[in-house]
Amino acid sequence: MRKAMAAAPATVANVSCGFDVLGFALEHPVDEVEVRWSTKKGVTIVAIEGDGGKLPLDPTRNTAGIAAQAMLRVARVAQGIDLYLKKGVPVSGGMGSSAASAVASVVALQMLLGTEYTTSELLTFAAQGEAVTSGTPHLDNVTPSLLGGFTAVRSTEPVDVFNIPYPHELMCTVVHPQVTVDTRRAREMLPKTLPLSTAVSQWGNVAGLVTALSTGDYDLLQRSFHDAVAEPTRKALIPGFDQVKEAALTAGALGCSISGSGPSMFALSSTKEIAERVGTAMQAAFLQVEQNSTIYITPISPHGCQRIS
Ligand code: HSE
Repeated sequence: MRKAMAAAPATVANVSCGFDVLGFALEHPVDEVEVRWSTKKGVTIVAIEGDGGKLPLDPTRNTAGIAAQAMLRVARVAQGIDLYLKKGVPVSGGMGSSAASAVASVVALQMLLGTEYTTSELLTFAAQGEAVTSGTPHLDNVTPSLLGGFTAVRSTEPVDVFNIPYPHELMCTVVHPQVTVDTRRAREMLPKTLPLSTAVSQWGNVAGLVTALSTGDYDLLQRSFHDAVAEPTRKALIPGFDQVKEAALTAGALGCSISGSGPSMFALSSTKEIAERVGTAMQAAFLQVEQNSTIYITPISPHGCQRIS
C-alpha cells in the first residue's frame, strides 16, 4: 500500500458528571488524515487544511504527528511517512479536535503499515497527543472517536474502556461560541481535592446517568445530569453559560453542560425536532451576550473512526 486515509469524528467528553470518563461520538464534523511513505525519516506533516493556520506543522507539537510518531517507534519502521491533515473539527472548541486528529492518524498509519493494533494500543498512541496538548493522557475523547457510540473509561493505566448502551433516538445539539478555551488551562483551574459529600453526589449521578442511558429512562437521565466537579469552575470561561443552559432546558433538552473543556456547550434531546428548537434557543441566549456561534445537530454516531482507503 502506498497511502492510506481515515476519518475520525468529533466527540463530546465528560458528558456532565462523567469528568474524564464518559464520552460519545458525533456523526459530524470529522477530521481526515492521509499518510504516505516518504523518502525522509520520521513523520513529516506536509499540509494542514481547515485549521485557519492555528495548528503547528511540527510533528512533536501536533497531536496527529505525536500519535504517528508513537506508533512508528513501537513498529520499529525505519522508513518515514508524510502526513496530510484535513480539519473538520474546530480547533480548541471542546469537541475533541486533538483526539479526532490523533485517532485518524493512528488508524490511517496502521493501514499503511499493514499491522492491526489492539484498541488499547491505538488508544495509547492517540492519547500521547492529548498528553502534550492538555498535560494529561486522558481517554474520554479518543475512545469514542475510535470506537463510536457512548463510551466509558474505567482505567487509563492499564487501558480499560467499554461502550455503554444508549437510546439511538437521542439527538445532540452542540453550540460553539467564538471564545477560545485552552484545555491545559481549563484543567489547571479545576479543584485538586473534593469534599467527600461532593464526590458522593457525583458518583450517584454517574450511576444514574449510565443506568438511564442503558434503560432509556429519561426522567432518571434528567435527574442525573449534574456536574459538581468541572462545570462550577469552568463555566466562568463561557460567556452567558447559565443563560444558555437555562434556554436549552426550557426548550425541552433532557440535559445541558459543557462539551469537553469548552467553550462549546451541548444538550441531549429525545427527538430531532426538540434538538433543533434547543439549538435555536441556545444560539439566541449566546447572542444576548454578544456571542455568535456555530451549531451542530447530530445523533450519537455508532461509528468511530472510518477507514477511507
Ligand atoms: N475530560 C477532558 C477535560 C476533555 O474536561 O479536560 C477535554 O480534553
